[in-house]
Amino acid sequence: MNFILVNIKELLQVRTSASKILKGKALQDLPTLKNAWLHIENGIIVDYGEMKDFKIDSSIKSIDCTGKIVLPTWVDSHTHLVYAGNRESEFVDKIKGLSYAEIAAKGGGIVNSAQQLQETSEEELYKQSKIRLQEVIAQGTGAVEIKSGYGLTTAAEMKMLRVAKKLQEDFDLPIKTTFLGAHALPKKFNGNTKAYIDEVINKMLPKVVNENLADFIDVFCEKGYFELEDTERIIKAGKKYNLPAKIHVNQFTSFGGLQLSAEENVLSVDHLEVLTDEDIQHLKKSTTLPVALPSCSFYLGIPYTPARKLIENDLPVVLASDYNPGSTPSGNMNFVISLACIKMKMTPEEAINAATINAAFAMQVENEVGSITKGKRANIIVTQPIHSYAFLPYSFGSNHIEQVYIKGNPQIH
Ligand code: NIG
Ligand code: FE
Repeated sequence: MNFILVNIKELLQVRTSASKILKGKALQDLPTLKNAWLHIENGIIVDYGEMKDFKIDSSIKSIDCTGKIVLPTWVDSHTHLVYAGNRESEFVDKIKGLSYAEIAAKGGGIVNSAQQLQETSEEELYKQSKIRLQEVIAQGTGAVEIKSGYGLTTAAEMKMLRVAKKLQEDFDLPIKTTFLGAHALPKKFNGNTKAYIDEVINKMLPKVVNENLADFIDVFCEKGYFELEDTERIIKAGKKYNLPAKIHVNQFTSFGGLQLSAEENVLSVDHLEVLTDEDIQHLKKSTTLPVALPSCSFYLGIPYTPARKLIENDLPVVLASDYNPGSTPSGNMNFVISLACIKMKMTPEEAINAATINAAFAMQVENEVGSITKGKRANIIVTQPIHSYAFLPYSFGSNHIEQVYIKGNPQIH
């Protein structure tokens, strides 16, 4: 496919090179071109410019974008979108006032999803997950990280990762996979966390690596789930196999997981709804990326990650969905952007940067996606005619996306 989008009202996130992670004040800088054109060839961005300099080449198909805004697709660096069934019954418990911890104690939570997944065939799991992936693509997501962690046995963890790999083969967008065996303690371990971590590290991980099923490693570092010493073992085991770590940490409590992660210089620390001044100081000494998941805060009614505090401390911010059946049953990145603006007081520019270029760094695809840059994939969003890009987060819950191109191919028919 060879085509040119013309008369674009505003082309966002135009960067000449792969760029750097944006932190502090730099997050406010969203380079744009007004009244622009964008040339796509074989699924790649080959050129762009302003209409005043546009030379008509009638041999190339042109698509009129009058009044419309064009931007790179969202990069969702944290999801659990491969899962089986749902947890609506817990939703009702939640409405009636039970907390996340109380629901888990009743046999709900991660182990509930694990049981459903263990009983689901690989084909059926693929079918359910594919529908979710297609849905988020139509909502503008053009690169996605997918975690395991609802298997909790070697066979079921491998099943999840194989499904994610099959999605990677069947869909033409960057998909990275993360091994999250240490997501919750299976019942049969009777509280013996150390024995389960031994199994994750000595039994599951070598098999996952052997089949090349994971790009990253993760652990749920949280009271009642995994302690600091478990987290440290997981990070170090990942290093041994060259799997950078992306850690679930500081969702409900701050107890040193962030210091450990920063000292180990992990790739990202995700959640951070509870973040102390001391945690911030540790982050400042590392290159670890802080990832906020505002849809999770929205759904669970827990604090929002203090993005302004991160930015004031000259730190980067990444935004992701956390799409999963328990704490965030939505993968809609448009809603994530709205929440980041409305609840976390990020500006539209900061939120868009956090969900595109910075997010690309958090899943190591910054050379492929995340900005309008020559040579990058043509994974782009075309909006309906709208007044300005701030209208996207402002009009929360509405869909203003007209077309999504993945490698230059239109996804909405
Ligand atoms: O990122 N916090 C840990 N894991 C998921 C939720 C898992 C679940 O409740 O199923 C999260 O929020
Ligand atoms: Fe998560």
